[in-house]
Amino acid sequence: MKVLLFGGAGYIGTHVALEFLERKDTVGIFDNLSSGLRSNVSPDALFYEGDIQDKKRVIQVLEEGWDVVIHLAAFKAAGESMLRPVKYSENNITGSLNLITGCIKTGVKHFILSSSAAVYGEPSYLPVDENHPKNPTNYYGYTKLCVEENLKWYAQLKDLTYVSLRYFNAAGYDKEGRMRGLENNPANLIPVVMEVAMGIRPNLLVFGNDYDTIDGTGVRDYVHVTDLAKGHVLAADYLLANKGNLVVNLGSEEGLSVQQILDTARKITGKEIDAQYVDRRPGDPAKLVASSEMAYKTLGWKAQDSSVETIIETTWKVYQANQKRMKAR
Ligand code: WQD
Repeated sequence: MKVLLFGGAGYIGTHVALEFLERKDTVGIFDNLSSGLRSNVSPDALFYEGDIQDKKRVIQVLEEGWDVVIHLAAFKAAGESMLRPVKYSENNITGSLNLITGCIKTGVKHFILSSSAAVYGEPSYLPVDENHPKNPTNYYGYTKLCVEENLKWYAQLKDLTYVSLRYFNAAGYDKEGRMRGLENNPANLIPVVMEVAMGIRPNLLVFGNDYDTIDGTGVRDYVHVTDLAKGHVLAADYLLANKGNLVVNLGSEEGLSVQQILDTARKITGKEIDAQYVDRRPGDPAKLVASSEMAYKTLGWKAQDSSVETIIETTWKVYQANQKRMKAR
């Protein structure tokens, strides 16, 4: 199969590319390298530098003929989206529409979207399934919902089928250490914890320890990025088997607290990892856990590598390898 990954040089995209390359599929990577890294693009993949807001370039690459397009080229910082909505409108909405309309114009029939649990907003029940009301509490989440809705329309009006994968908290790195570079300026919990363990940051700020959770800290559903990547392969097979459209959660179905992540990271790294307990971060729900039953029923997908140990061990390994590389320069 010929698969084109928009945003394929980013954190999740690189892992998705590895899964398709392992099957010997033809993989194209389209990326503007704004946060993706050229060093993470496998030499076995075709690389197209470009921006999804550049319609001409998008069409030019789509015209090469692809069985499936996977769209992972979005900005993803929820907090930033509230301060810089225009940046998110232009890239995440207009850019995504360029890809969808580009597929229609060039005859690409199958589309996979990187969506997010952010489409749900504050959970009104747990675990969150796909029928849960969609009330995003940040503009980022709205951009994902907006693209999902456009896919729904285009699937009705044109010859396009799609799968939307609503990721919960993506975490971890390739077990075999094939990822070379790290994300720039991470804001998510686990990378921050790693930076403290490495001595790059002085401490972790734990946002709130008075939630109604097991230990007072926020609970999330962390799903290993390789599990997510495998979900894309299953979604591509699903589309090519003409099974129709699908919107599914990808989560581990396990809730882990910030404190549990911190304790495990201290154990695995052997580092102290200083933590300061501060106020809650505005907009953070106490607890967010997925039901991924639908993904299992439709795609046969289940998280397999998402234990907290695997997530922390694989991340720590990549952080350490990068420190060695930095020192070797
Ligand atoms: C996890 C937990 C924090 C940092 C975000 C996006 C969401 C999705 C995934 C893409 C929370 C706590 C964090 C820190 C902390 N992205 N925390 N100190 O907010 O669950 O989800 O990423 O689709 O849209 O909003 O992830 O990693 O920021 O936080 O205490 O320095 O860690 O309060 O409980 P979040 P996160």
